[in-house]
Formats: sequence, C-alpha cells, structure tokens
Amino acid sequence: MDVRVVEHPLALARLTTMRDARTDNAAFRAALRDLTLLLVVEATRGFGTATFPIHTPVARTEGHRLANPPILVPVLRAGLGMVDAAQSLLPEAQVGFVGMARDEETHLPTPYMESLPPTLVGRPVFVLDPMLATGGSMVHTVELLTARGADDVTAVCVLAAPEGVRALADSGLPVRLVTGSIDERLNDSAYIVPGLGDAGDRQFGAV
Ligand code: URA
Repeated sequence: MDVRVVEHPLALARLTTMRDARTDNAAFRAALRDLTLLLVVEATRGFGTATFPIHTPVARTEGHRLANPPILVPVLRAGLGMVDAAQSLLPEAQVGFVGMARDEETHLPTPYMESLPPTLVGRPVFVLDPMLATGGSMVHTVELLTARGADDVTAVCVLAAPEGVRALADSGLPVRLVTGSIDERLNDSAYIVPGLGDAGDRQFGAV
C-alpha cells in the first residue's frame, strides 16, 4: 500500500496544536482545517488535468482543471471538520457521507448511515477521517465504496496508528494513505498514543 506522511513544517506545527491538550475546540478546528488543506494538496499530487482555452487580460492561453475530481466522503462525525477545507481546494467535488459509530467496549465499527452515489466506477474517492486507529472503520468504509465499484480510494487522515496502517494494507483493498503522522501505538482503549484524544470531542465538545 502506498503510504505518504506529510512532513511539511506547517503540517507539523498544526499537528502540534491539535495534540496539545490545552488547545480549545475552536483552535483545534482551525488547525484541523489548515492541516486538511496540506493533506489534500498531497493527496491530489499527480492527478491529471484537462486543458481548456482562456483569455488573460493580455493574451490567449491554456487553462487547467482536474480531469477527474475526487468525490469526498467524510466519516461522521469526526470527518466533518475536514470537509470545508477539502471543498475549498476542490470546489467541484461531490460529497458523500458515511456514519460510523465505535462500540467503546469492543472497539468495533457500527455503520449507521450511508449516503453515496449508486456507482463509483472510474471515480477517485477521498475518505476524510482524522484518526486511523484500529483501521476497522476505514476498512469498513472502503468496503462500502468498493461495493459500488470504486477502485481508487485515498484515506486522508491526520494521524495513524501502526495497527491501523497494517489493517488497511492487509485488507488488500485498493486504497492508499495520506497522513500527517504514524504514531507509536494504540492503548488498551484503542486510542492513538501519543495521539490527540477523541477527534470528535476535540472539535465539537464531549456530548
Ligand atoms: N478515534 C479518536 O478520535 N481518537 C483516537 O485516538 C482513536 C480513535
């Protein structure tokens, strides 16, 4: 599996803000937004462009646009905080949704919502989920996508645990990973260590 860790200095700085337990919800959301921009830049590197004629104020020239923009699929709820940034770089992108709850005892993903186009054949997909922990939710989400014909899926994650990276690689699914960091490990509660805590609670408050 292709794994890219974005080690840009600005990504490291935003990640530090997100990790810091003193960061409040608003500052956490702002750092997540900035970091998502950097992750999406990396995720779209190498995408093909289509050309079309434009006029500058001075001359005629060729313009470029993405030939096949990805569909964005945030995993609810923590992935919601990545949508706005991804859309600002990809204004033409369609957005689907997958709702995945985590059973706090078994740590297994429980899907509760799926809103996706009927077919994803020939369409790149970016799954937006800040945390790749056990990999269970991500594997399950990518299976939902491949069941609709997707064969070019990118998991865009702020942080990953080695266990999650392994689960995704071992799944044999057509997926690659773009992340800000691969951390040390999972703890007994399946939280990423050192991590940043619960990415949903850090954005929206514990409810
Ligand atoms: N989900 C989170 O929000 N945080 C973790 O550390 C693991 C899963």
